[in-house]
Amino acid sequence: MYCPNEIDRILISEEEIKQKVAEMGRVLTKEYEGKNPLFICVLKGSVVFFADLIREMHCPLEINFLKASSYGNSSVSSGNVKLDVGAGIDFKGRHVVIVEDILDTARTLYALKNELLTREPASLKLVTLLDKPSRRVVKGFTADYEGFDIDDLFVVGYGLDYDERFRNLPYVAVLKPEVYENT
Ligand code: PRP
Repeated sequence: MYCPNEIDRILISEEEIKQKVAEMGRVLTKEYEGKNPLFICVLKGSVVFFADLIREMHCPLEINFLKASSYGNSSVSSGNVKLDVGAGIDFKGRHVVIVEDILDTARTLYALKNELLTREPASLKLVTLLDKPSRRVVKGFTADYEGFDIDDLFVVGYGLDYDERFRNLPYVAVLKPEVYENT
């Protein structure tokens, strides 16, 4: 198995992720059957989870993409969320599901949720694979559906990066602290 030197240990295996994503797909299929939901992939981190999750959805749906970023090449959130919500996406009257890889300070999803609510969706739900509740800055903010609660560890893989690396690992892993300590 491909495991770069910078990885300290695997936190969530490929198999555990697979089972969880299938379970989330079952729950979401039940919820959205007959509603033709609009699933939104928040680039870039969510791309791997998104691709797997929509294939566990056994009902008609549509997809689209938007870009949000706050971390740049640092391991610490800048607190300055940049949103690029496609002008061409019509959210009005749609059942919108935002899919994220990780909920950390919650600044990104908070900003995104507020922005999308102005576009008058019929409903708006948030899905995240990972949640780090101990890092929350937007107090009390939660996703509607989440995969795993994790401790305050710097994780990469399954879409998550450090300085744009490691997104292609099929598992979620803890990065060795010396890799990011001096940034
Ligand atoms: C990550 C992640 C979420 C956000 C979560 O994105 O994909 O969008 O941070 O953090 P928050 O809850 O503290 O806002 P990032 O800004 O690193 O961009 P990327 O998805 O392109 O890697």
